[in-house]
Amino acid sequence: MSLVTFTSTLHKDKTVYAVAGSHTQTILSLAKEHHIPIDFGCGEGDCGTCLVKVSSLDGKRRPMGGPLNAREVAVLKEMGRVSQAEIDQMYVDDIPPNHWRLACQMIVRGGEDLLVEYPSK
Ligand code: FES
Repeated sequence: MSLVTFTSTLHKDKTVYAVAGSHTQTILSLAKEHHIPIDFGCGEGDCGTCLVKVSSLDGKRRPMGGPLNAREVAVLKEMGRVSQAEIDQMYVDDIPPNHWRLACQMIVRGGEDLLVEYPSK
């Protein structure tokens, strides 16, 4: 089980439970389920609209999560949010290279409480 806290400058913080061991629940699907207004477009990892910043809730380290998938790598690189050196290191460490993720692509895994910062319009 994980707690995921969504925060933005315009909305009240909201903390929700993520399904334990889900292999399909994304940050975006969790946000939609709880009426958290993360902006999104394609829902398929192509447009970058759902960019969020994800941290461990304790703030002490990068979230473990899973490494970026190929779509996230392509879009985040294009947006200048991740460098090739960070991507190369990600494949060595098997954890995300930094805090930037696409909410529609990041699968929530159990065992780690997360802070998700999303942009406010
Ligand atoms: Fe388009 Fe996530 S909604 S990349």
